[in-house]
Amino acid sequence: MSNKMWGGRFATGPDAIMEEINASIGFDQRLYRQDIAGSIAHATMLAETGILTQADRDSIVAGLNEVLAEIEGGTFTFSRALEDIHMNVESKLREKIGDAAGRLHTARSRNDQVATDFKLYVRDTIDTLVTQVTTLQLALVTRAEEEAETIMPGFTHLQSAQPVTFGHHLLAYVEMLGRDAGRLLDARKRLNESPLGSAALAGTPYPIDRHMTAEKLGFDRPTANSLDAVSDRDFILETLAAATICAMHLSRFAEEMVIWSSAQFSFVRLSDKFTTGSSIMPQKRNPDAAELVRAKIGRILGALTSLIVVMKGLPLAYSKDMQEDKEVAFDALDSLSLSLAAMTGMVSDLTPNRERMRVSAAAGFSTATDIADWLVRELNIPFRDAHHITGQIVALAEQKNCGLEGLTIEDFKFIDQRIDSRIHKVLTVEASVAARQSYGGTAPANVLVQAARWKTLLTGQPHDPKPLGKKKHGTHGDGGL
Ligand code: ARG
Repeated sequence: MSNKMWGGRFATGPDAIMEEINASIGFDQRLYRQDIAGSIAHATMLAETGILTQADRDSIVAGLNEVLAEIEGGTFTFSRALEDIHMNVESKLREKIGDAAGRLHTARSRNDQVATDFKLYVRDTIDTLVTQVTTLQLALVTRAEEEAETIMPGFTHLQSAQPVTFGHHLLAYVEMLGRDAGRLLDARKRLNESPLGSAALAGTPYPIDRHMTAEKLGFDRPTANSLDAVSDRDFILETLAAATICAMHLSRFAEEMVIWSSAQFSFVRLSDKFTTGSSIMPQKRNPDAAELVRAKIGRILGALTSLIVVMKGLPLAYSKDMQEDKEVAFDALDSLSLSLAAMTGMVSDLTPNRERMRVSAAAGFSTATDIADWLVRELNIPFRDAHHITGQIVALAEQKNCGLEGLTIEDFKFIDQRIDSRIHKVLTVEASVAARQSYGGTAPANVLVQAARWKTLLTGQPHDPKPLGKKKHGTHGDGGL
């Protein structure tokens, strides 16, 4: 039997393989809500412009709402012979209301329909993702405030560099996530034009009102060129690009969780809720959630790569190639959403090992730069010379097998006579971080100011910086937002 939606000129139906390669219902059924909303807006506009009778409009809208209820109630049977969500919905509508259903497709095509549905879906998804990013940011800010004075080693090249505060480190991710949310919202702004009514590719001779449908569907305006409207997939590419960058940030953070939670580092303990045991090694607590977040970037970038290759070289306007946009995009956006949720859980539940971080922060002569800075500041030695002198001090400590704070004043004077005992006060990791009060620096006072700024930004409520030196909170978020 030929296809009842478009089979007029076909003598036979498609080969089984044709049906299999052609159908998208297996994955585009998740667009049902957007598809029905688009059809209701379209039918309403058709009636208001006199193209459809009010009676037909009423029965179409009522029928579509029944279809919606059936799908949501789980009683709808999707048919592969009907290819996609658009024809599955319309065919069910015909079963319910008869011939009037055939009038719904006046002045539109599946080409503008699918672009509209997918834009609506991506728009909703961006909103969810941005909310999730904000939730993760808030979890990080809460922890950052608690750990504003927790000192950990800061690394470059994954070698001990200078002490930093754990709160400062966590706030670095809040900054990255802030840009990620900005990129997603930026993509949302550009996508928010309605393709509906562009029809197959050229527009339509009916006196439709595209501004009306655009408005009903929450778009800012209709797209201005029908060819562009049905062949544009920039909106999903942009969203996937933003998603990829966000996933890359999560992957870096996840990698740090993996390193920090190892027995050798032991900077943090991940909760039982986000780790797994080993079936053979009873001592193991594997950071699987972090590892999987570290890995998800693969499929998210894969989706971006896949779709940009699909789109490359496609002539205008719609080609069926574009049906390949959905599976990868759904998978990528689902993966990012899951990663954000897992990260939020891990951040809220982790227990920092403050003592261990502090001891580690002092290792590797991490306050050597503070000595050099002291020589510059107090003895007016040029930085390059101060750097050289400090190098000799580090070498001496290495020789004596002690840390910089283990050196006596005689040791310092042996390297340079001009040094006096005041040097001792810059050798501690506490002094080192407290001194870094330059804007954006790691000092605990700065961390508290930045945490308050983010809380204000994220909640829309004014927040003052917490006072320094307050007794640390427990290891879990205090919620105080
Ligand atoms: N399922 C199709 C897609 O996802 C809908 C558009 C079909 N258009 C067409 N002219 N065959 O792209």
